[in-house]
Amino acid sequence: MKIAAIAGSLTPLSKTLLTVKETVRHIKQSHSEVDVNLIDLKNYHLDFCDGRDPSEYQGDSKRLIEEVVQADALIVGTPIYRGSIPGALKNVFDLIPNTALRGKVLAFIATGGTYHHYLAIEHQLKPLAGYFKAYTLPGNVYAHNDHFVNKQLADETIKERLHQLGDSVVTVSRKLNGNVIGAEQPVIPRQSLSQT
Ligand SMILES: Cc1cc2nc3c(=O)[nH]c(=O)nc-3n(C[C@H](O)[C@H](O)[C@H](O)COP(=O)(O)O)c2cc1C
Repeated sequence: MKIAAIAGSLTPLSKTLLTVKETVRHIKQSHSEVDVNLIDLKNYHLDFCDGRDPSEYQGDSKRLIEEVVQADALIVGTPIYRGSIPGALKNVFDLIPNTALRGKVLAFIATGGTYHHYLAIEHQLKPLAGYFKAYTLPGNVYAHNDHFVNKQLADETIKERLHQLGDSVVTVSRKLNGNVIGAEQPVIPRQSLSQT
């Protein structure tokens, strides 16, 4: 099984990256048979999505799209910006093919300045999973400034919850085995006038 873990912050000393790294570290330690790939978004120089077919992107955009498509499950860590996700991370969801996450488990980690926006996972991130016909876990992790000390993730409860999230991604993903449950939904076209 392949898991891609995206840390969706471009900030040099990223709290989001610390949470995703902790999750990846745990998966590597507890599920050594799983191939888990950390995607630190600031190391990718991405194109802005311009509506072209995803297969036409080159360079880092192509690499990122392939890494997401080839993964069996995805962990997405995001900082909260303006009560939502940063544009840089939204761009990733715009770049990937419509079918990239179909039947896959998509688990969310968010970091914010305070607890005020913990529900952003429910109303900003989970709808993306719905669009892509992916499964989300009922449990997610939200960490805020008080959980970090000396530029490190210090809160043991948050760490434990990140480990649980990692374990759940592995377990649920295995059980689902890529199957989509429920009624077929209409395909959403991404065709632009320049292609007609
Ligand atoms: C442009 C911007 C907007 C932000 N908006 C929010 C917000 O709406 N709610 C919140 O709780 N924190 C907000 N924050 C704080 C960040 O979410 C928080 O510091 C987060 O942990 C940053 O993650 P990072 O270190 O991985 O970049 C904002 C930060 C920036 C830079």
